[in-house]
Amino acid sequence: MTKRTIVKMPGDGIGKVVLEETLRVLDSAGFEADYVEGDIGWEFWCNEGNPLPQRTLDLIEEHKIALFGAITSKPKDEAFEELSPELKEKGLVYSSPIVGLRQHFGLDICLRPCRTYTGNPLNFIRRGAGDTIDEPEVDVAIFRQNTEGLYGGVEWSDPPPHVYDALMTHPKFQQNFGDSPKEEISVSTRIFTKNATERILRAAFEHAKKYSYKSVTVCEKPNVIRETSGMMYKMAQQIQKADFPEIELWNTNIDAQMMWLTKNPENYGVIVAGNMFGDIVSDGFAGLIGGLGFACSAQYNPETGVGVFEPTHGSAPKYADYSVSIVNPIAMVESACMMLDFIDEQEIASKLRKAVAEVVAEGKVRTYDMAKMSGRADVVINGAASTQEMADAIIAKL
Ligand code: NAI
Ligand code: MG
Repeated sequence: MTKRTIVKMPGDGIGKVVLEETLRVLDSAGFEADYVEGDIGWEFWCNEGNPLPQRTLDLIEEHKIALFGAITSKPKDEAFEELSPELKEKGLVYSSPIVGLRQHFGLDICLRPCRTYTGNPLNFIRRGAGDTIDEPEVDVAIFRQNTEGLYGGVEWSDPPPHVYDALMTHPKFQQNFGDSPKEEISVSTRIFTKNATERILRAAFEHAKKYSYKSVTVCEKPNVIRETSGMMYKMAQQIQKADFPEIELWNTNIDAQMMWLTKNPENYGVIVAGNMFGDIVSDGFAGLIGGLGFACSAQYNPETGVGVFEPTHGSAPKYADYSVSIVNPIAMVESACMMLDFIDEQEIASKLRKAVAEVVAEGKVRTYDMAKMSGRADVVINGAASTQEMADAIIAKL
């Protein structure tokens, strides 16, 4: 069989080190691939005025599968300041290359699994009956619609007159906002389409079926956001009834879900939500299983087979320049496991997951976050494992 080519996109800050260490781990696990590097991130914004150059899109188009570290983004004014002087006159506006990737390739399915590792000192614990301490085992797969909704980018401050006039035709707009001057109004829309809503719901149900989860929970707010959340829940009811009657359909409101998260997290299986609520609820669950050092994700388009696999964390710039890297590479390694699942390399994926689980359970090698230290440059001298040492420990288990 010919070797696969994977596009590696280290990006900025700690994205570089976690990706490099993950490639070393993948190699030791017996995954054979050629890697080509895709340029993405702050450096390319500053020097070329584009954090996601066309050549990177071309590489992903060609090879379909990408491993991505993290990027740095900064607010509008700072982004402009750091732009190379000869580009400043060109009227360039910074926009997030991650959002760009999602939209360009229609990566509308985002999966963020949150599973408890036995022995992780960061696992959530709660007080049980009779003053016992419980450590609930979380195994949740969150499906987040990745391209629409409140992050769809359709927004205005001081909306143009035709938009304002259209809004004024809505009685609620007139009643609640009609007295504010147009210039003082900012609008961010929350648009759901049936097509994308159906795709995320089906992806969630199919995952539940494939991995024997007993329930799918739609986590939205249909009692208040009647049109968008309402549509999603109604469609979920139809899909469940027609095609997945063996799977239970639950319905929670995002606000209540964030409260129940700590009460009974072990009761949830697959969760599905729109873009922002999916973002929120996945961060919430990630907090129960160890936080950003453990939170992994996949974004993909099931039709084209394009998939981008990345940890949830960002570039953590304050840690990027330490002479010995201290961050936890597990989130990136787990994201690589999701890639392996996606390209049907389940055997290597399970081997790798088992190795990570053993390192965590054994508890001898712990990065600063697992050792509950604050992330200073001297944590390794004080007993925490470095990024490389964690990768070495995983490799040793392989
Ligand atoms: P961040 O995720 O980079 O870091 C927040 C904190 O989480 C860090 O200071 C550190 O304490 C901890 N942390 C993150 N990754 C860790 C790891 N692997 N191991 C141990 N601890 C870890 O988020 P922050 O500071 O809000 O943003 C920094 C930059 O990253 C910003 O420019 C932001 O725009 C960007 N960002 C990029 C993302 C991406 O590339 N997908 C996602 C989130 C933020
Ligand atoms: Mg987030």
